[in-house]
Amino acid sequence: MSTWSLEKCETISFPRINDNRGNLTFIEGQNHIPFPIERFYYIYDVPGGAERAAHAHVNLHQVYIAMSGSFDVHLDDGRQRRTYSLNRSYFGLYICPMVWRHIDNFSSNSVLGVLASARYDESDYIRDYGQFLERISAE
Ligand code: TYD
Repeated sequence: MSTWSLEKCETISFPRINDNRGNLTFIEGQNHIPFPIERFYYIYDVPGGAERAAHAHVNLHQVYIAMSGSFDVHLDDGRQRRTYSLNRSYFGLYICPMVWRHIDNFSSNSVLGVLASARYDESDYIRDYGQFLERISAE
């Protein structure tokens, strides 16, 4: 069985500087994020009813942030499943390797920001759920 599990995935609370001109949150590498940040990308303009992800990563660590709006992140390590509703830009969701995830229920104008531990590499993706289950039971 894979040594990675949902127990390692958790929400992270980022610092908040509240101000009547608007609030500010900051994220520092090597401080708030449990891996060196190598990439940032974001998903936006998501049409109603769309789903994203539906894959796992072999080695990649990520933190998802609802920069704006809300969406649901469904995690599955092959043994248990858990859903996180992200709707605050001062929370992140850390997702370790070898966890299947899909994202749905995007609100209009939502923006999903992702901090990632490595650059894009298609060979790091497992896009077939059956292969994912085989792989975690072999590890
Ligand atoms: P993908 O990760 O499959 O999207 P999702 O968020 O739904 O899981 O990526 C969609 C497409 O974008 C795919 O063709 C790969 C490309 N892509 C990059 O080129 N660079 C990146 O950093 C990412 C995340 C995706």
